[in-house]
Amino acid sequence: MTEIILSGASGKMGKVIARLAEDMDDIRLVCGFDLMNSHDSAFPIYSKTEGFTGHADVLVDFSHPSALEGLIKYCLVRRIPAVIATTGLSMVQIALLRKAATEIPIFYSANMSLGVNLIIELAQKAARVLENNFDIEIIEGHHNQKIDAPSGTALAIADAITSVLNQPKEYVYDRHSVRKKRGKSEIGIHSIRGGTIVGDHSVIFAGTDEVIEIKHSATSKEVFAVGALRAATFLSKKPSGFYNMQDLVKEL
Ligand SMILES: NC(=O)c1ccc[n+]([C@@H]2O[C@H](COP(=O)([O-])OP(=O)(O)OC[C@H]3O[C@@H](n4cnc5c(N)ncnc54)[C@H](O)[C@@H]3O)[C@@H](O)[C@H]2O)c1
Repeated sequence: MTEIILSGASGKMGKVIARLAEDMDDIRLVCGFDLMNSHDSAFPIYSKTEGFTGHADVLVDFSHPSALEGLIKYCLVRRIPAVIATTGLSMVQIALLRKAATEIPIFYSANMSLGVNLIIELAQKAARVLENNFDIEIIEGHHNQKIDAPSGTALAIADAITSVLNQPKEYVYDRHSVRKKRGKSEIGIHSIRGGTIVGDHSVIFAGTDEVIEIKHSATSKEVFAVGALRAATFLSKKPSGFYNMQDLVKEL
C-alpha cells in the first residue's frame, strides 16, 4: 500500500487522481493540500502543510509553481519523497528540486504520460538510426485554452532527440517570416490550437521517398494521473535521487 499526500487536491488533476485512487487497492490518499477546500473529498484537505503530521510514503503535486518551495521544505523536514507534476517551474525551482534530491527521492516530469515518455525513447532510437538522411519535424496540438506554444513536451522531445545526435540542431518555430530552403541542421516545431484536444505529439522523420511518423494522442487527463500514481509507487521504493519518467519507463 502506498500512502499519498495529494497537493492541488481541489484542482482538475487532483480530482482525477482522487477518483482513480478510489478504485485502486494499493493506493490510499491520506490527505490533500490546497488553498481551496473541495468539501466533497473522501480525505481531509489542508490549506497549510503544517496541518498534516501523520504518516505518508510520498507526496504527489499537481498544484502551482507558487506552492513548490513550501512543499519541498515540508518533504525535506519529514523525509517524504515527492513526485512533482506541476509545470511552469523556473530554472531556480528546478535547481531547488535537484538540490533536495541529494537528500530525498524527487521525481519530476512535465509530462506524466507513460505513452509520451515511450515515444521519446522511440524518437531517440529513430534519430540515432536516421541521422544525416532524414529531416525531423515535430507537430503538437492542444486545446484552444492553452496559452503557451510550443508545448513543454514538444521541446522535451526535441531536446531528447538532439541529446543523442552527433551534429547540433537548431529549432525553427516559424517558416512564415523567412523565405529560404530548409537547412539540414533544423528541427521544425509546430503548434496547432483548437477545440478540446488534450495533447497530441507527432515526430516526423522525412527522408527520400519515405516518411516515418511516431505519434501519441492523449484523449483524457487520466493518462497523466495514471502516470503520476505509477511514479508515486516507483518513487516510494527508491533512495534519494532525481528521477523522471524515462527512469520509470526503463524499469517496465
Ligand atoms: N506533468 C503532467 O503530466 C501534468 C499534466 C496535467 C497538468 N499538469 C500541471 O499540474 C498543475 C495543476 O493542473 P490542474 O489542471 O489541476 O490545475 P487547476 O488550476 O485545476 O488546479 C490547481 C490547484 O492547485 C491549487 N493551488 C494553487 N496554488 C496553490 C498554492 N500556492 N498552494 C496550494 N494549492 C494551490 C488551486 O487552488 C487548485 O485547486 C498545472 O501546473 C498543470 O500544468 C501537469
